[in-house]
Amino acid sequence: MTVTVPPTPVLILGARSDIALAAAHRFAQAGHPLHLVARHPERLETDRTDLQLRHDVPVTLHNLDLLDTAAHGPFLDSLPTLPGVTICAVGLMGEQAENEADPTRAAEILRSNFEAPALLLGAIANRYEAAGKGTIVGISSVAGERGRATNYIYGSAKAGFTAFLSGLRNRLAKKGVHVVTVLPGFVATRMTAGMDLPAKLTAQPAELGEAIFRAVDRRRNVIYVRPIWQLVMAIIRNIPEPVFKRLKL
Ligand SMILES: NC(=O)c1ccc[n+]([C@@H]2O[C@H](COP(=O)([O-])OP(=O)(O)OC[C@H]3O[C@@H](n4cnc5c(N)ncnc54)[C@H](OP(=O)(O)O)[C@@H]3O)[C@@H](O)[C@H]2O)c1
Repeated sequence: MTVTVPPTPVLILGARSDIALAAAHRFAQAGHPLHLVARHPERLETDRTDLQLRHDVPVTLHNLDLLDTAAHGPFLDSLPTLPGVTICAVGLMGEQAENEADPTRAAEILRSNFEAPALLLGAIANRYEAAGKGTIVGISSVAGERGRATNYIYGSAKAGFTAFLSGLRNRLAKKGVHVVTVLPGFVATRMTAGMDLPAKLTAQPAELGEAIFRAVDRRRNVIYVRPIWQLVMAIIRNIPEPVFKRLKL
């Protein structure tokens, strides 16, 4: 007799993001129960109803501001069980000019993209390590691959986050825990609303949802979503510094 193991619950941090919601739909479609985590979870009530009706899976909403790092441990303790997959979509880009001029805003960008997600994923990773299983997906960015004048505060925080995910993967590879790094280029979401983005380089949230689902299923390490971004970033990384500093990218 074969026993079917039910799909593991998925914990989604920053669940109000368009990318997070696309991933939520893709995992729910495959039967995974969801725990959606956001700063104002009541804003997700309609999405919760939609996910439950479309996919017939249980969906719970949880309140957490990731910048409140003292709340991370109690939040994890409050979950009924440890979800098998954790996806972190938390991020904040802001405006580069404001980020340069206002150190309080710059600190918020650095903490929202690096410190807060890294500390919470680190706490989850320790629990996964003790359990000998679990998958973590961190949504970082190609912006972390080289500091550029137009968004280096956001980009440097993403660089830290990418390095953190790489180290976590390296540390836990032999412990049954897998870490996926997602490095999207442009994605048409609330974060990029109003920007004039080139269509060929711009993914839709549903592409991210599918790519994240496949990356978890196939235990991929690092994904760029649209392959062209791997080439674009290889070129950008390799521009010599004397040339790079004359460009305004
Ligand atoms: N869009 C792109 O082109 C692009 C490209 C590369 C990487 N990314 C990354 O993809 C991820 C998702 O971004 P998105 O494009 O979907 O934009 P988004 O809608 O702005 O999503 C970011 C999410 O992070 C949440 N968040 C921010 N600070 C938080 C905090 N302290 N505690 C809890 N939640 C917090 C926001 O919550 P609220 O809903 O409460 O504001 C929002 O739901 C981000 O990490 C972003 O950096 C996006």
